[in-house]
Amino acid sequence: MKSIFILTGAGVSAESGVPTFRAADGLWEGHRVEDVATPEGFERDPELVHAFYNERRRRLSSVTPNAAHLAIARLQRAHPVTLVTQNVDDLHERSGSAQVIHMHGELLKARCERCGAVAEWSGDMGVSSSCGHCRTKGGMRPHIVWFGEMPFGMDAIDAAIVSAGLFVAVGTSGNVYPAAGFASIAAAHGIPTLEINPDETGISGVFDEHRRGPAGTVVPFWVEEILRGS
Ligand code: OAD
Repeated sequence: MKSIFILTGAGVSAESGVPTFRAADGLWEGHRVEDVATPEGFERDPELVHAFYNERRRRLSSVTPNAAHLAIARLQRAHPVTLVTQNVDDLHERSGSAQVIHMHGELLKARCERCGAVAEWSGDMGVSSSCGHCRTKGGMRPHIVWFGEMPFGMDAIDAAIVSAGLFVAVGTSGNVYPAAGFASIAAAHGIPTLEINPDETGISGVFDEHRRGPAGTVVPFWVEEILRGS
């Protein structure tokens, strides 16, 4: 049985209360992306960047998975699924998805820039945090992929796209590459593609099928269809 490749974006967590990125004002929760999501921004003002991610990490405890996360986890238990998310929250894991590729990293992980160790991190992080592995202070950063950095898991992702039987994108605007190019790769390999999003996106034209509506309604319905074999 061929696997289903699911790419999720901020829209899958929107109904859980996690804000999406591209608000009309072009800011990300009040900040310029260059200030809080680039290596240069971190070098310029590490305190600001730590504070930004600390705030988002704290907020994770007050959000819960929605019906879309739960339906994807249900599908994963019954059918081979490669689940790739651009989201840095842990809502797929909390809804029961066992295997999730976080291509843009995870809020609940930290990385030491001195020794490269990656560790679970649930509390606040700052310029004086120390690495549990090499014990050095001052080299800890969020394990998040910033603009200009290479996303994680790309080899596994590339292999999974071209061997999939169906490609589905849920709640992503198609603005950020390489993820925005995945649907085109699938289409070039003759793999059927489905976009689930309330709105048209810049890459809607690439998809064979569109289901317009919020993920929390559309995804459970679609999963039910797959499980019924229709
Ligand atoms: P965006 O914020 O760019 O897009 C969110 C998408 O979700 C839009 O297309 C919305 O129409 C859609 N949406 C909103 N509500 C929805 C709902 N209830 N159900 C389904 N869809 C809904 O987020 P991403 O495409 O995920 O990168 O952004 C990609 C990357 O850009 C992020 O991972 C992040 C950001 O900069 C990094 O942090 C590296």
